[in-house]
Amino acid sequence: MIYMLDTADIEAIKKAVDLYPLAGVTTNPSIIAKANRPFSDIIRDIRAAIGPDRMLHAQVMGKTAEVMIEEAQAMRELDADIIIKVPVTPQGIKAMKALKERGIRITATAILTPQQALMAAVAGAEFLAPYVNRLDNICADGTQVAAEIAHLIDVYKLDAKVLAASFKNVQQVHEIAKAGAQSVTIAPDVFDQLLVHPLTDSGVAGFVSDWEGVYGEGTTVLDVI
Ligand code: E4P
Repeated sequence: MIYMLDTADIEAIKKAVDLYPLAGVTTNPSIIAKANRPFSDIIRDIRAAIGPDRMLHAQVMGKTAEVMIEEAQAMRELDADIIIKVPVTPQGIKAMKALKERGIRITATAILTPQQALMAAVAGAEFLAPYVNRLDNICADGTQVAAEIAHLIDVYKLDAKVLAASFKNVQQVHEIAKAGAQSVTIAPDVFDQLLVHPLTDSGVAGFVSDWEGVYGEGTTVLDVI
């Protein structure tokens, strides 16, 4: 599983880089707007927080392919390794073809159907981002959509990965992991929940209590070895 964090919150990014096997950070226009700072500052701050080797995804806003391509080029001047998120509209698909020809990495976003994902992959998208929770919210099965995209990647031997997005709980992440999605992008609050279990907490507390009862409070293996 390739884990990414869906946020522009620099403190949350630093925390996740420190704790988790994080492969990158994704943003979208709503996330950027919530940060409410100059776009270039946000991108630079995220890059500084994640280092040169992790992925950074940011989305174009243009309504035509031509503007999307210009935006992508401007973003690449800001961050040479940035991965360009492009929505799966007809103009977006046109932009993907051109960006692919220029060797620019692409994440196809706003995916709600497997056919949108398939065409984006054929047009050159490396990551395919279905919105799991937004589908679940309207009683359309987000996991099933992600699973079908994973299946199509396999059937057509496409050079693309599912980047499942839009999660509101751990069960949704678990379901798409079982369905074979290669990567996920998760908001910080749900990301932290991935490791939570009360029996883990009580189990660790029990180990500490048993150990300290014999070897002393605050000791570790380093003190007794
Ligand atoms: C990722 O590509 C999406 O922008 C994002 O995960 C959407 O999440 P939301 O449905 O919680 O806004």
